[in-house]
Amino acid sequence: APEPALSTQLLEWYDHHARDLPWRVAPADRQAGMVPDPYRVWLSEVMLQQTTVAAVRDYFHRFTSRWPTVQALAAAEDADVMGEWAGLGYYARARNLLKCARAVSADHGGVFPLDHDALLSLPGIGPYTAAAISAIAFDAPEVVMDGNVERVMARMFDIHTPLPDAKPELKARAAELTPQDRPGDYAQAVMDLGATICSPKSPACGICPWRDPCRARAAGTAPELPKKQPK
Ligand code: ADE
Repeated sequence: APEPALSTQLLEWYDHHARDLPWRVAPADRQAGMVPDPYRVWLSEVMLQQTTVAAVRDYFHRFTSRWPTVQALAAAEDADVMGEWAGLGYYARARNLLKCARAVSADHGGVFPLDHDALLSLPGIGPYTAAAISAIAFDAPEVVMDGNVERVMARMFDIHTPLPDAKPELKARAAELTPQDRPGDYAQAVMDLGATICSPKSPACGICPWRDPCRARAAGTAPELPKKQPK
């Protein structure tokens, strides 16, 4: 029998080991037809920039309890949103969050646009967030690159070029692996793999769904990748 595609192997792992995150639709529910709320995907991705999953959970619950929709958030007082954000840091994110909610509300009828360029033109939505919303909320085969994904790709293909020079090659590798089937779950699976098994210092290669194809695992170089350009 032919070897299943790498993405298929990872999705199989994700079906059993996906992290239970409050903004996520579990893989079984997703395959049963449930779709994630783009508002919750967007809010979680903005909060997760420079902040850990553990720290974001409570903030996410408080925000979505108080403002359950993007229109509710758009109608909030600036000071109330800044108050709920207090402690998360990087306060420009909170100001852009409100600007974005108001733009979605005023210019898009309260619906996050499906179009990638329309997403990119919203305040505070850069290439990472646009790709994450497209993939996770709309199940589009976008390549979602964050530090976790860069590390996983550097190891899978034993790429020793230091960051940031390696970025284009890492993105090209990630694009090659992205499947047309279940791209949203796949994007989250790579991030979960990087956050749980393919960790920076002591990767748990023995239980990795990609242990056989991983070139850095074969070469013994996984813990030292990705290389970083000295500052
Ligand atoms: N880190 C940032 N976004 C994430 C997501 N959607 N799933 C897992 N980890 C993440």
